[in-house]
Amino acid sequence: MAGRLSIITGATSGVGLATAKVLAAAKSNLVLVCRNREKALPIREELMNAYGVDVDIVVSDFSRMSEVRQAAETILNQYQTIDVIINSVGLHSTRKRYNEDGIELCFAVNHLGIFLFTKLLLPRLVAQGHGRIIQVNSEGHRFSGVKLKDINFKKRIYTGLKGYGQSKTAQLLTMQVISEQLKSSHVTINACHPGAVKTAIGSNNGFLYRFFFKHVTSHFLKNPVISGQAIHYLAAAPELEGVSGRFFHLTIDELPAKHAIDPVMARKVYDLSMEMVGLNDE
Ligand SMILES: NC(=O)c1ccc[n+]([C@@H]2O[C@H](COP(=O)([O-])OP(=O)(O)OC[C@H]3O[C@@H](n4cnc5c(N)ncnc54)[C@H](OP(=O)(O)O)[C@@H]3O)[C@@H](O)[C@H]2O)c1
Repeated sequence: MAGRLSIITGATSGVGLATAKVLAAAKSNLVLVCRNREKALPIREELMNAYGVDVDIVVSDFSRMSEVRQAAETILNQYQTIDVIINSVGLHSTRKRYNEDGIELCFAVNHLGIFLFTKLLLPRLVAQGHGRIIQVNSEGHRFSGVKLKDINFKKRIYTGLKGYGQSKTAQLLTMQVISEQLKSSHVTINACHPGAVKTAIGSNNGFLYRFFFKHVTSHFLKNPVISGQAIHYLAAAPELEGVSGRFFHLTIDELPAKHAIDPVMARKVYDLSMEMVGLNDE
């Protein structure tokens, strides 16, 4: 990774932060894409001082597609070469919430924001002839498929697991289409489950959730350093050159749920996602 440029979204906490530390230790220069500059500034200082790498901050709220577009544009303008993109931005919400365009928030952030960001940066990776994209997904994709006619949970009951599962499944399905599009390039896209690790995920939820997390769930979770190490492996391992469209549980190549590998559904969710973010492949 030495001297390469890695872009990390969701780099201010948990899996993204752990990954930033591992990659900086491997001497990769970094761009931390985050929604809160104040939170990112001390992280930038710490990484630059500890590892002597260049670290930039790009601010973007991934629930707002206009801000995702701005972030991608800034990165494309500032960097000629992008070696690695790690999308760790994400949330789990037990309450049904919407972004300002009326899109269910998990779908908007965990899937659409990352999808748009990836699609906007991809031409640069293809043009330069190399690059690896890693989508931080989840075993939670198994909780739900994608309901094309009710993405926004207007006609069915929302649960945190369904909203989260739908967003992660949408990411796995669209990854297949993108991977296919990249076939003749030297760019790869893979997804991973980063382990069950102790992070801030779910801290936006209510008192009961946080109480249970603090006193029960958290005792079973591992240190996110394992996520950072696994993602470093996926981003750098020579044996993964050319490997694309796969789902890794940490570093183990695993088969996703049936609903997340259906090629017909993959195309439909891809087309819908393109329409929702206002992109066109032609
Ligand atoms: N923790 C686990 O056991 C686990 C298991 C499976 C999958 N995952 C996946 O791992 C990824 C990272 O989650 P985590 O566990 O590390 O949680 P986390 O500690 O809460 O980190 C989430 C990151 O995403 C950022 N973020 C959230 N909403 C955003 C928005 N609208 N715009 C921009 N940034 C936003 C957060 O920013 P702030 O710092 O500003 O809040 C933070 O940097 C997620 O995709 C999650 O689904 C985690």
